Amino acid sequence: MIRTPFIAGNWKMFKTKAEAAAFAEEFKGLYQGTDVKAAICAPFTDLDTLVEAFRGTGIGVGAQNVHFEPSGAYTGEVSVGMLEEIGVDYCIVGHSERRQYFAETDETVNLKLKALLAGPIQPIMCVGESLEQRDAGELFDVVRRQLTDGLAGIPEADIRRVVIAYEPIWAIGTGRTATPEQAEEMCAFIRQVLIELYGEDAADEVILQYGGSVKPANATEIMNMDEIDGALVGGASLKPADLMAIIDF
Ligand code: PGA
Repeated sequence: MIRTPFIAGNWKMFKTKAEAAAFAEEFKGLYQGTDVKAAICAPFTDLDTLVEAFRGTGIGVGAQNVHFEPSGAYTGEVSVGMLEEIGVDYCIVGHSERRQYFAETDETVNLKLKALLAGPIQPIMCVGESLEQRDAGELFDVVRRQLTDGLAGIPEADIRRVVIAYEPIWAIGTGRTATPEQAEEMCAFIRQVLIELYGEDAADEVILQYGGSVKPANATEIMNMDEIDGALVGGASLKPADLMAIIDF
C-alpha cells in the first residue's frame, strides 16, 4: 500500500484575514508540480479567504476545531455544517493545546470525529504523551487510550478517512524534535493498535503524521521513516518558503 505523503500546516492563533490572503498568494506560486498533498489549518476567520484563494490548486484548507452538535446554544462555537458550507476539507481534533487549555477529552474527540465523519470533512486526530508520561514509561498506554477511546464506535469504513497525527507534547513549539526513531517507534505502535482495532487492510491506508518542531532542516529524515506518512507543522508553516521546503522534503 502506497500512502500519499500529506503535510498540513497548523497556524494556531496566527494570521489575520489579510495576512492569510498574502500567504496564499505566495504559497500558490510555490506549490506546483508536487505529488505531496498539502493543507493549511487556519483560524476560522481565515477559512473563507483560503478556500477561495486555493480553489483549483489542490491545496487543502482545514479548521483547527469544531463543535460536535449540529447547532444550538453554544456561544463561541462553530458546527461541522458551517465548515462544510465554506468548503473546508480537514479539521484538526484533539490537539494537545485544546486538551490542555480548552478541556478537550477523549470523549469530546470521539464525538467530534463522529460528527465530522458523517460528512465530507476529513479529521486530523492528534494524540501524544507529555514529558512526564514519557519519563514514567507510560507513553504507549497513554496513546493507546487516546486511540481506543477517541475512535470508539468508529467503523472500519470511516477509519480510512481519519488522519492521525502523533504529536508528543514535549516536542511542540519547543525546538526539541522527537528523534526520527522515537517518532517512528510511536507511529509503528499506532499502526499496530489500528491493526488490532480494524485489521491490516484498513490500518494500512491510514495516514500517520508526526508533529512537533518539524522544520526544513529535519523534514527529510522524519519523512523517510516507513510508518510516517506526513507532518503536522506549526511554527514552520507560517512562512510559505519554509512550508514549501518541508513539502519538498
Ligand atoms: P510546532 O507545532 O511545529 O510549532 O512544534 C506543531 C503542532 O502543534 O501542530
